Amino acid sequence: MTLSARIGRMEESLTLAMAQKARELKAAGRETLNLSAGEPNFDVPQVVKEEAIAAINSAFNKYTAVSGTDELKAAIAGKLKRDNNLDYSPKNIVVSNGAKHSLFQLFAVLADFGDEVIIPAPAWVSYPEMARYHGAKAVLTQTKSENGFKITPKELEAALSDKTKIVVIGSPSNPTGSVYSRDELAALGEVLKGTKALVISDEIYEKLVYGVKFSACASISRDLYERTITVNGLSKSVAMTGWRLGYFAAADEQIAKAVTKLQSQSTTNPCSIVQKAAIAALDGRADKDIETMRRRFEKRRDLALGLISKIDGLKPIAPDGAFYLFVSHEALEKDSTAFCLKLLDEYGVVCTPGIGFSQEGYFRMSFAANEEVIEKAIAQIAKFADGYRR
Ligand SMILES: Cc1ncc(COP(=O)(O)O)c(C=O)c1O
Repeated sequence: MTLSARIGRMEESLTLAMAQKARELKAAGRETLNLSAGEPNFDVPQVVKEEAIAAINSAFNKYTAVSGTDELKAAIAGKLKRDNNLDYSPKNIVVSNGAKHSLFQLFAVLADFGDEVIIPAPAWVSYPEMARYHGAKAVLTQTKSENGFKITPKELEAALSDKTKIVVIGSPSNPTGSVYSRDELAALGEVLKGTKALVISDEIYEKLVYGVKFSACASISRDLYERTITVNGLSKSVAMTGWRLGYFAAADEQIAKAVTKLQSQSTTNPCSIVQKAAIAALDGRADKDIETMRRRFEKRRDLALGLISKIDGLKPIAPDGAFYLFVSHEALEKDSTAFCLKLLDEYGVVCTPGIGFSQEGYFRMSFAANEEVIEKAIAQIAKFADGYRR
């Protein structure tokens, strides 16, 4: 049996692999403290749950339009206008089974053999794999910690070529928590002017910012609006990871048409019940709950950052958004996989090696766990670091 060349180009997701290892240890009776999760441990807002129940009771059971119901796409367009001052009509929007699904399908319809995809590193695990799977070259562009791991106009210019098809911007970033300001996005936009490069702007952590303002890439200028595909979803901001709902909006209607075609031949519409409930998550009714979760995250961020900063040999990037600390352990150990496996084996703490995000010498710890787990886990990490130093 021979597997396709396509699947051979893709690596397994390291974040999921670490979570699997943690489950195995737990099943074997070992206590583990899991800081690898990329999902909030909060409940879904009541109003969203009630809409889902009402949809079930009213037998909203059938296939919907492949790209999502008109009602939901109107709610998404309303959200993009209200929150981001972006004008999209429902025909520019496609709803899918999570933002990961949206991204995968965007790569499928846009990236070809010979195309280059610029991905500022450190980067979320799936961007390079998705690009490679579809035959494109992932141009991982190293950014600097002193710039908050944000790509600078100079670095972008150096990475651009006449083969550049897509530039991926994740803001707030997973894993670093960096958030691009309006000025920073505008400066990157200037570099792209006159090129054919599209921007995929992954804004899934939009609502989770701490003391800074989120800026949507497409809202910066007319030029960026034309070339940017805005990707977002409900997993992180509304704690709806398992419900699987993501979407994108693109100025060029051809992109929505192509993704709809692909989706029609693969997964069809996202779950009808979830689509109904998603409207309540997007139209402002869940805003108070979303803000309550954000505040809890902010407290956890401050707690985790304060505790990790005290540990000799570890150097965290202070995150302005998302729910991760990206921590340098270079002073203790260069190899992030060795560091994280040892930490898991000896102290039962699950973190994610930086190499999974194309950045050696760092680990990522999520603060989407409750305060007690964060405190206990960091106390273990402190002991572990102490052992390394001796
Ligand atoms: C940066 C980033 N983008 C997209 C996703 C995908 O989210 P979902 O498919 O759950 O909507 C994730 C989830 O971990 C993420 O961290």
